[in-house]
Amino acid sequence: MIPLSRWQGAVWMVAMILSASACVAASDSHGSWLSKVPAKDRVRVNPLAENPSAVAAGALVFAQHCASCHGSKAGGMGRHPSLRTERVQQASDGELQWLLRNGSLRHGMPAWSGLPEVQRWQVVRYLHSLPLDDRAQ
Ligand code: HEC
Repeated sequence: MIPLSRWQGAVWMVAMILSASACVAASDSHGSWLSKVPAKDRVRVNPLAENPSAVAAGALVFAQHCASCHGSKAGGMGRHPSLRTERVQQASDGELQWLLRNGSLRHGMPAWSGLPEVQRWQVVRYLHSLPLDDRAQ
């Protein structure tokens, strides 16, 4: 049998390793969803890409469902990231559609699979219409 003190040491080591890996996971949390998007979803074409009213419709969806966390101008609030960032602007419409449908549940982003798909495409158009600005609230 292992003496108690060595056993305690082993438990402590395991706890240290676990907390260190939790830190690594937390520090790169925003954006890690991107690596999960399947290739076929990345390249999906937004059927509203040429629809002139989609941005305004997406702004309404955003105000209703998203502003409470991301801020009324999508500039982020607390641990809820700004969406006026290069990552979001450079993500393809298909990648954002995938994120909205699936969420990033472990990091606090709900799934919006309950919304009609067309509303998700609208809000994607709205997000991509926003100028870059991390300070907008
Ligand atoms: C309950 C709070 C909450 C609500 C409501 C919410 N989000 Fe999020 N959202 C988050 C969090 C937290 C993250 C960070 C997730 C991560 O890092 O994986 C996030 C991440 C994102 C990202 C990716 C940002 C990045 O930098 O990678 C996008 C895009 C996004 N949300 C869009 C939306 C849209 C559009 C809506 C409305 C349909 C919405 N969110 C509603 C909490 C929320």
